[in-house]
Amino acid sequence: MIEKKEHWNSRFAFVMAAIGSAVGLGNVWRFPFVCYESGGGAFLIPFFVALFTAGIPLMILELSLGHWARYAPPQAFQKIGKKWEWTGWLIALSPFIIAIYYVVVMSWCFCYMIYSLDLRWGSHAEEFFHNFLADTGTPTVLGSISIPVILGLLVIWLCVFLILYKGVSRIGKVVAITVPLPTILLIILTVRGLTLPGAMDGISYYLTPDFSKLGDVNVWLAAYAQVFFSLSIAQGIMITYASFLKKKSDITNNAFIISLADAGTSFLAGFTVFSVVGYLAQTQGLTIPELGLRIAGPNLTFITYPTAISLLPVAASFFGIIFYIALLTFGIDSAFSMIEPFTASITNKWHLKKAKATALICLSGFLLSLLFATGAGLHWLDIVDHFIANFGLVTIGLLECIILGWLFRLATFREHVNKSSDIQIGKWWDTLVKYVVPLILIIILSVALYQNITDPYLNYPLWVLVLGGILPLAGLVILAVFLMKIRPAQEEQV
Ligand code: PFF
Repeated sequence: MIEKKEHWNSRFAFVMAAIGSAVGLGNVWRFPFVCYESGGGAFLIPFFVALFTAGIPLMILELSLGHWARYAPPQAFQKIGKKWEWTGWLIALSPFIIAIYYVVVMSWCFCYMIYSLDLRWGSHAEEFFHNFLADTGTPTVLGSISIPVILGLLVIWLCVFLILYKGVSRIGKVVAITVPLPTILLIILTVRGLTLPGAMDGISYYLTPDFSKLGDVNVWLAAYAQVFFSLSIAQGIMITYASFLKKKSDITNNAFIISLADAGTSFLAGFTVFSVVGYLAQTQGLTIPELGLRIAGPNLTFITYPTAISLLPVAASFFGIIFYIALLTFGIDSAFSMIEPFTASITNKWHLKKAKATALICLSGFLLSLLFATGAGLHWLDIVDHFIANFGLVTIGLLECIILGWLFRLATFREHVNKSSDIQIGKWWDTLVKYVVPLILIIILSVALYQNITDPYLNYPLWVLVLGGILPLAGLVILAVFLMKIRPAQEEQV
């Protein structure tokens, strides 16, 4: 179907690329906060249960599907059954939507890396952040476009294009730097953080176990959601990356390495973040709860952390720069991994040159990202992310389990994996994929649906939620069916 099959240069290149996709902004700003909110140290129990009962089994499923089919998601699902090609397109398109706003956050990181040179936010990081974004404070007023954000977007999309257009051999070279580098920087930042006064208060706040939370169903749901988002599963990335593996490649072992490396990085990031949060609380004479929501999401990265950096007694700029370089290098492999499934799907189906397909997709991505560079961007970003992360990801995971587990012979994948892997998987894996994972996903989906209906997200007007949440999701399905329907000039067999 494709003239020349692409391959990873080595097993190391593949594992690094997959770890690079999994480890991203989500590890640095999502895990520490979810962990602290959901019982601190006690959260590690549901987290590891979720990792072993859903994360790793689905990782094995996606890797084995990609490796077995040797094609990007649409063609892989076509191999399962012709009528399922649309599911593959849906899976390939969904991370592209995430990329459109993920790259915006990376553009902010890029600007902040430069601002770190002279600690431009001064002592008013919050005010500075909102001015930088030209924030209108509401999704309903677009306001003006932030020029620094656009420049950042240009740089990041250009990097994504330059990394992807030559194919996976270049990805292999890039990840050999962009995976170890931020990990080393994170360790440096953690060591610095832990030696600051007040750091231990932060750490004990992060890790003090509150076992009573283990009885709360929401904590378990948060653990599963975190594992899904963080491992980059249910997004076609692992299917696509595994399709570039050579015939004789270990799957199970790789799935464990990728998943545990991702979990380990999240856990480490908790120390980095909470040591600095403890320091900030102490310097400002506040308790950690008084710092409030500032320790989650963009606020952590663009308000709390810069504030703490400015307070460092020595080498403040240096630590600022390495923090944002770490975020950029953590994020870049996640960003380009979100584009690759769509590019690979298009080149598989239409025999388009990789460079041309990549250029087209990156250009469209850049233009769509501009929506988030407006004064309302921060709010739209939050809304789209809320719906995609809560519904898109979970629905796709569920579709994968149903189609591959129930409407196809699941044992095909188990047998395929066992042929080339050191660690053999047994029938327990079928049980997890067929029963446990779908059941959990149905519960997560129902709870999320119920909560969103009874309590509209942040009380935004309905039209805002339809435009930012329901429309992108419905649009994805329509586009997926459309892409299935248009046939290449010369129809070929998969
Ligand atoms: N796993 C990435 C992170 O933790 O930042 C985020 C991500 C990457 C989500 C790729 C979804 C995806 F398709």
